[in-house]
Amino acid sequence: MGSLSFFKIPGEFHRAPDPHPWKDLDHEVPVVDISNLEETDSRERALQALRDACESWGFFQLLGHGIPRELSDEMMEVAYKFFDLPAQDKLVYYSDNVLDEVGFATNFEVSKSRRPSATWQEFFFQMCSPPCDPSKLPENPASYRNVSTSYGAEITALARRLLELFSESLGLEGSELAGRFEGELMSMRLNHYPPCPEPQLTIGIQPHSDINAFTILQQVEGLQVLHDGAWVTLKPLPGALVVNIGDQLQVILSNDKFKSVEHRGVVNAERARVSIACFYSPGLGARIGPIPELVNEECPAKFKESLYGEYAKASLSMELNRKSALSTLKVDV
Ligand code: OGA
Ligand code: NI
Repeated sequence: MGSLSFFKIPGEFHRAPDPHPWKDLDHEVPVVDISNLEETDSRERALQALRDACESWGFFQLLGHGIPRELSDEMMEVAYKFFDLPAQDKLVYYSDNVLDEVGFATNFEVSKSRRPSATWQEFFFQMCSPPCDPSKLPENPASYRNVSTSYGAEITALARRLLELFSESLGLEGSELAGRFEGELMSMRLNHYPPCPEPQLTIGIQPHSDINAFTILQQVEGLQVLHDGAWVTLKPLPGALVVNIGDQLQVILSNDKFKSVEHRGVVNAERARVSIACFYSPGLGARIGPIPELVNEECPAKFKESLYGEYAKASLSMELNRKSALSTLKVDV
């Protein structure tokens, strides 16, 4: 540790105690490889691995995804450069509404009275599908607009492929889900977690599940997944993207078969961490609710119907915490 260890962080950043132990497992988080889907055997294997991962962990590392390595690296690089700018240059993009087309903020809960503690984080977000107006994006670094627009388009194309695979892995037609994603949205959030002199006292992003359908994340170590009652650190494999199930896939697609699992981001004293999270969801006007083919006598509908926009607004009006929003859609038994 360097000179940072002389500093204390303000009390506002102290996080609530967490009941779950911390496990540093290396290889347990499932890996799914989609590089060779034309061959029947490897397609079957990939679909089975996908289904197992979504049912047991709600998280997997994705290989063979086809996003060019140079583009992923460039995206990381422009993100680091943007966060290196002086605060006043970033605050030009300040927004207190994460449903805006473009914005910058430091806490999901802007109001101090609503949030449990401040998070050791700042983030920038932009819509990728439909794409935001590029003139609203940062001009500095100079390649930001081009790189983020290309990355967003590639990730959106990947999300559509994954949607088909999720559908097939549950024994449905590949195109079944696309019809339920009317007005699809892809929004990208760059998270920046600066080095912290007392990392164990605070949190980068508090435990939560994602409210959208699924998330595609590029990250360096720092993400933890709640599995069997413990926080498991997800060690990124070279070239892999992390995919996690969000509330909508738990509700809409799978009638509770797939799990939208809690996760959080921890911080460290040595180096800044950036993650690039891309959130795929149906349009705000899309109807959400268990898919009829997956509802039957043994497995009755476990969630009520709603509109995605209503769900998103209700979730955003709660604090980002645990799985509070999903419980509002549960059918009472
Ligand atoms: C998120 C998220 C984790 C990370 O942005 O929803 O869970 O590693 N991020 O930054
Ligand atoms: Ni998340």
